[in-house]
Amino acid sequence: MLSERIPVIKEEGEKALHGIKTAAELEVWEVKYLGRKSELNTLLKGLKDLPPEEKKIAGSLANKTKSELLIAFEALKKEISESNTDWTKEAIDVTAPGISVHAGHLHPISRLMHEVEDIFVSMGFAISDGPEVESEHYNFDALNFPKDHPSRDMQDTFWIKQEKKSKDRFLPRTHTSGVQVRFMETHKPPLRVVVPGRVFRNESTDASHEHTFHQFECLMVDVEGKVNVATFKYVAETFFGKFFGKKVNIRLRPSFFPFTEPSFEFDISCILCDGNGCSACKQSGWLEIGGAGMVNQKVFEAAGYKRGAYQGFAWGFGLARLAMMKYKITDIRLLLSGDLRFIRQF
Ligand code: PHE
Repeated sequence: MLSERIPVIKEEGEKALHGIKTAAELEVWEVKYLGRKSELNTLLKGLKDLPPEEKKIAGSLANKTKSELLIAFEALKKEISESNTDWTKEAIDVTAPGISVHAGHLHPISRLMHEVEDIFVSMGFAISDGPEVESEHYNFDALNFPKDHPSRDMQDTFWIKQEKKSKDRFLPRTHTSGVQVRFMETHKPPLRVVVPGRVFRNESTDASHEHTFHQFECLMVDVEGKVNVATFKYVAETFFGKFFGKKVNIRLRPSFFPFTEPSFEFDISCILCDGNGCSACKQSGWLEIGGAGMVNQKVFEAAGYKRGAYQGFAWGFGLARLAMMKYKITDIRLLLSGDLRFIRQF
């Protein structure tokens, strides 16, 4: 009778299990008592040929025995594996430094932009912006660039292809100066404003030239006689002094921009050698920063102001230059390369 054989298998199996000490012995036991070809399994397979009454009793007994043996087997397996574990290896050194989670952060250019904005805001300037795709009117015409004058090529412009004829042409702006006019169209002097923004030039790139870069435009306008070149010099020296955290001198050199008269290029005293001469300033003691000048009356007129009623200065400088000085970056192209190995250093 099958139902008599099953308890015997169970007893034998349990007895055999008691003597087992190693994982290898346990494996042999598993094959013998629970394996596919074990006696118990063979019995279970043969159940279908038994008369219904016996099938019922033997079936439930066999299944019960199988699961009891399985439970005993699993318990022993766990016990053996735990006794083989080297707990010193599993131990946690709570004093070990953790694995740092890499958090994202602002791009160095964005950070500088915020820093520059904060300084200007502390000096009473407003912040404004304008479109990156600008019309020829704001980028050139309103800024007194003569029509068909080579100064439009001077800016090495990318022009936007236009399907339909329209009276204005469009371009990715070559500088932020167009926003001077946009701002003055909607604001009356006295005004103080800075305009951060991305600009684009059709330029071959090298370690100090990029086709896309960030500029800061600064504009201060008041009634005749209130804002002059000395005001510009003072504002620029104050700004760069705050930015670099040390006294900075400004030097103006005569230059030309259609939208300022007179116009200057301006330099700051080298922040690395304090003007004594080093490799960063090519021994000159000065670093070129940007362009500046007194706003041309024609620009005021283009913005709708009365000629001669106001006087003001405007200046523009590139953020990349500041970033390169501040972080000692030797190739401007790294800034917008999108290379995370570079970005993560900041
Ligand atoms: N827009 C000029 C440039 O991009 C800089 C500038 C700004 C010059 C304002 C004078 C006044 O080079």
